[in-house]
Amino acid sequence: MKPISIAIDGPSGAGKSTLARSVAAKLGFLYVDTGAIYRTIAYDVLQRGIDPGDEAAVLAGLPQLRLELSHGADGLQHMLRNGEDVTDAIRLPEVSMCASVVSAYPGVRSYLLDMQRRLAAEHSVVMDGRDIGTVVLPDATVKIYLTARAEERARRRMLELEQRGTPQPYEEILEDIRRRDWNDTHRAAAPLRQAEDAVLVDTTRLNFEESEEALMRLIVERMRE
Ligand code: DC
Repeated sequence: MKPISIAIDGPSGAGKSTLARSVAAKLGFLYVDTGAIYRTIAYDVLQRGIDPGDEAAVLAGLPQLRLELSHGADGLQHMLRNGEDVTDAIRLPEVSMCASVVSAYPGVRSYLLDMQRRLAAEHSVVMDGRDIGTVVLPDATVKIYLTARAEERARRRMLELEQRGTPQPYEEILEDIRRRDWNDTHRAAAPLRQAEDAVLVDTTRLNFEESEEALMRLIVERMRE
């Protein structure tokens, strides 16, 4: 049977990864967090002392990076850089900022395109990112554009950081979210936008369970069609 693909795109902090991971577990599909792949490239750039703003240097470094993705029995996606597990390290704020810069380079995006498409050709996937429904998997079985108001995304991120013991002021978080939204939607290469055939899900007023229920309902309906 042809693998099924669920594409979930949207701005940062909309709850994409938590929801995508949980929906994938329910469906028995592979969860693919494409942001983590861009983050691993960013991490490599920083580790090697390459200037993220130097597009040519970033591209020249790509063939030397052995980038692997593995899934544990728990369904969690681990990122490997030259054999080393960097799953936690790629979440640092400096890596987020660098990922936002290097992901705008067309050469970086095309370098990762095959890898993402191969995963979806070999497995039924729930794949989250910015351009999954528009560029990576234009024929995805179900396309969802998941969003929430910037203020609500900042509030959720603030609570998350507090729980992690690394609090940050609300205004700073909101500004960071707005800056990343702007970067993601204004870049020339594969900007973040809702695919014409994607269903919009706004989680501003929904909690996790309600959001998950909305997604599952939509996915099951579409898969039946
Ligand atoms: O979702 P995230 O915050 O982990 O993504 C990290 C960065 O990578 C973010 O700046 C957007 C970018 N990205 C992208 O350009 N395309 C994707 N499919 C996924 C992420």
